[in-house]
Amino acid sequence: MSSSPQTLMAGIQITSFIFISSVLIHTCSADDDIYSAVMPETVTALTGSCVQIPCTFTISNFEDKRNKAKSINGIWLKNTSKFAEKYSSIAFNSSKNIIRGFSDIQMTGNLSERNCTTVFYNIMMNHSDLYYFRLEMEPNVFRATFNPESDDSRKTVRITVKDSPQPPELKPTVRKVMENTTVSLSCSAEAPCPKQPPTISWSNIPESAHITTQLQEKPDKTQSVFSNMTFKASYMDHKKNISCTATYPRKTSKDSTVETTAMLQIWLQKQSQSIKRNELHLVQTWTGDSNSSGKED
Ligand SMILES: *[C@@H]1O[C@H](CO)[C@@H](O)[C@H](O)[C@H]1NC(C)=O
Ligand SMILES: *[C@@H]1O[C@H](CO)[C@@H](O)[C@H](O)[C@H]1NC(C)=O
Ligand SMILES: *[C@@H]1O[C@H](CO)[C@@H](O)[C@H](O)[C@H]1NC(C)=O
Ligand SMILES: *[C@@H]1O[C@H](CO)[C@@H](O)[C@H](O)[C@H]1NC(C)=O
Ligand SMILES: *[C@@H]1O[C@H](CO)[C@@H](O)[C@H](O)[C@H]1NC(C)=O
Ligand SMILES: *[C@@H]1O[C@H](CO)[C@@H](O)[C@H](O)[C@H]1NC(C)=O
Ligand SMILES: *[C@@H]1O[C@H](CO)[C@@H](O)[C@H](O)[C@H]1NC(C)=O
Ligand SMILES: *[C@@H]1O[C@H](CO)[C@@H](O)[C@H](O)[C@H]1NC(C)=O
Ligand SMILES: *[C@@H]1O[C@H](CO)[C@@H](O)[C@H](O)[C@H]1NC(C)=O
Repeated sequence: MSSSPQTLMAGIQITSFIFISSVLIHTCSADDDIYSAVMPETVTALTGSCVQIPCTFTISNFEDKRNKAKSINGIWLKNTSKFAEKYSSIAFNSSKNIIRGFSDIQMTGNLSERNCTTVFYNIMMNHSDLYYFRLEMEPNVFRATFNPESDDSRKTVRITVKDSPQPPELKPTVRKVMENTTVSLSCSAEAPCPKQPPTISWSNIPESAHITTQLQEKPDKTQSVFSNMTFKASYMDHKKNISCTATYPRKTSKDSTVETTAMLQIWLQKQSQSIKRNELHLVQTWTGDSNSSGKED
């Protein structure tokens, strides 16, 4: 049985495969194929909630490549940058909306605008891992995994999953203030899932307090809810425990409320000390730079 035409065909295929591969390898390692991604190094996610990974990338001559490509696909690899042999490491492939090991993943960023922002839904403990972003511009325009082992700017993101939220942060930490001065307290709670941000509430609010609350982006592009309270320090607020409570909406019966408390220490102005000492026996006062309490007896 003569199989020479088939052998010849196979030979042509192998040759063209090698040719295409070498062109690809050449293109992908050439100087004009500089690429990098920007995403947070770590994000802390909460079980039963979602987590948004803010992500953008740059690729040299992106516009040209975009015009050549018929499709742009974003892929998230879990735990390993190698996917060929370990097919199961692909958590997401936007091309056919392949989702593995998650109930839902959505690429909310527009890849044509170099935005690879992605939301992972219904987070579970086993989602804690290192994730690699991979971009494929087809047919054969650009394919690369943004792997920091080759270059610092080729980032990965580590998702750390926790069962209970982190307590909010209250700033500043020094809360010894002179009476009648304006005090600003800022309480911030991380919002890994910006579509379901935590709500913030305060207790023991001073009488003159003014509160503004809003979702704000941090330098690493992750978001936090900031609730800022300003008030005029009054001796009535001395030793008051002001607390800031964050409540996270999530699909679980687990505790979703966390609190941070601060105790105010109000210094009285010298001229009002003696008057108030007589007025309010319970109020403790400070003088000068001493923090000893001036308990009356
Ligand atoms: C991640 O990959 C390493 C090897 O690259 C392997 O030893 C480890 O078990 C993997 N972890 C998970 C959670 O799959
Ligand atoms: C993503 O899906 C497309 C289309 O199904 C496929 O051609 C491509 O190889 C996939 N990428 C990876 C890394 O599996
Ligand atoms: C995590 O656990 C759930 C439930 O046991 C399972 O369905 C899912 O595939 C797991 N995901 C990963 C990434 O291992
Ligand atoms: C990327 O897309 C996300 C989700 O649509 C959006 O919130 C964000 O502002 C975009 N980032 C940039 C830099 O355009
Ligand atoms: C993504 O961006 C491209 C280029 O700016 C635009 O043409 C396209 O409509 C956008 N796609 C979506 C879904 O917004
Ligand atoms: C709240 O205070 C913080 C820290 O001072 C500041 O970064 C933030 O911009 C403030 N936010 C609002 C809404 O005033
Ligand atoms: C405020 O908190 C401190 C420390 O937890 C506690 O010792 C003190 O009794 C509290 N003060 C009030 C007025 O509840
Ligand atoms: C602080 O403000 C109150 C009310 O405005 C005023 O009665 C008091 O005299 C002020 N105290 C000082 C020390 O300025
Ligand atoms: C003043 O405060 C410091 C720090 O809180 C404390 O270590 C010190 O004992 C206090 N001094 C007095 C006299 O109470």
